Amino acid sequence: MIRPVSWQDGGLSILDQTRLPGEEAYLLCSQVEQVADAIRSLQIRGAPLIGIAAAYGIALAAHGDQDQLDERVARAAALLRSTRPTARNLFWALDRMVARARQGAGARELLAEAEAIHREDADACRLIGEHGATLLPQGAGVLTICNTGSLATGGIGTALGVIRTARSRGNPIAVLACETRPLLQGARLTMWELTRDRIPATLITDGMAGALMQQGAIDLVIAGADRIACNGDAANKIGTYSLAVLARHHGIPFYVAAPLSTVDTSLASGKDIPIEERGPEEVRGFGGVLTTPEGTSVRNPAFDVTPGDLIDGIVTERGVMRPPYHRALQEAR
Ligand code: MRU
Repeated sequence: MIRPVSWQDGGLSILDQTRLPGEEAYLLCSQVEQVADAIRSLQIRGAPLIGIAAAYGIALAAHGDQDQLDERVARAAALLRSTRPTARNLFWALDRMVARARQGAGARELLAEAEAIHREDADACRLIGEHGATLLPQGAGVLTICNTGSLATGGIGTALGVIRTARSRGNPIAVLACETRPLLQGARLTMWELTRDRIPATLITDGMAGALMQQGAIDLVIAGADRIACNGDAANKIGTYSLAVLARHHGIPFYVAAPLSTVDTSLASGKDIPIEERGPEEVRGFGGVLTTPEGTSVRNPAFDVTPGDLIDGIVTERGVMRPPYHRALQEAR
């Protein structure tokens, strides 16, 4: 089992995802500032994992004098909230940790709370896998995007957890993974996880999805989510919306898999989901190598929003929610 974050020797050990698949390097964070930097730089990434790491970051900040614990926790929470704006799980986990601190929890209890958040996410992934696996027809061609596996969660993953569970139940699905420009989470991370698990998978560039749907190679699309509004609008890695539009055009079911900690009940629709815009250098080249003319103007939104009415179902730990999503998501949350 891949452990992208784990509590060790009073610190948070993290697998540096920016160095995968070339190198499996672990770093030990002993300060909350290091956890914040790791989230900002994508050494730790994937909405549920960001939330888990942030919770451990609060546990780190809580260490020390009980007198000033509240202030240290508040400062750490503000720092962690500033790292990435889109993943709902980050804010959900921080709200939960801050609430525990306000109830008088000490450093030990806050670490226990972070461990509970971690464990609960692993359980949610297992259940998402079980519910979602029933949606995949025998031997279907299943397309996914970005990385939604063990590297993005506390367990087997969300969309990738569904794929893993289907395979472990003997369903010989053919997995297709989008490379996921610009940072290649599909090519680098999803392919790394699937190769380790000996799950056969085929990598495609993002622009190939439509042609493969037209040729009948894709029977179903399943993606993760960073934030889901009450009407089912779902923010996920840039390129997900294009897949949903293509899937609808070709009559292919499109599913989202996410734990309920990704649902933002304060948002009626996806129009107010904050979308992270990252630096231009990520699009101008890769791995420090410039692939564009000097000064090329680029856009780099890291996420897009897929309207709920393009989503055939949202797979959560409580089962598969179907449209209209308002009531189902509110009640489940
Ligand atoms: O920028 P990233 O790599 O953090 O983006 C991750 C995604 O878009 C995932 O699909 C999403 O967080 C769900 S992970 C279970």
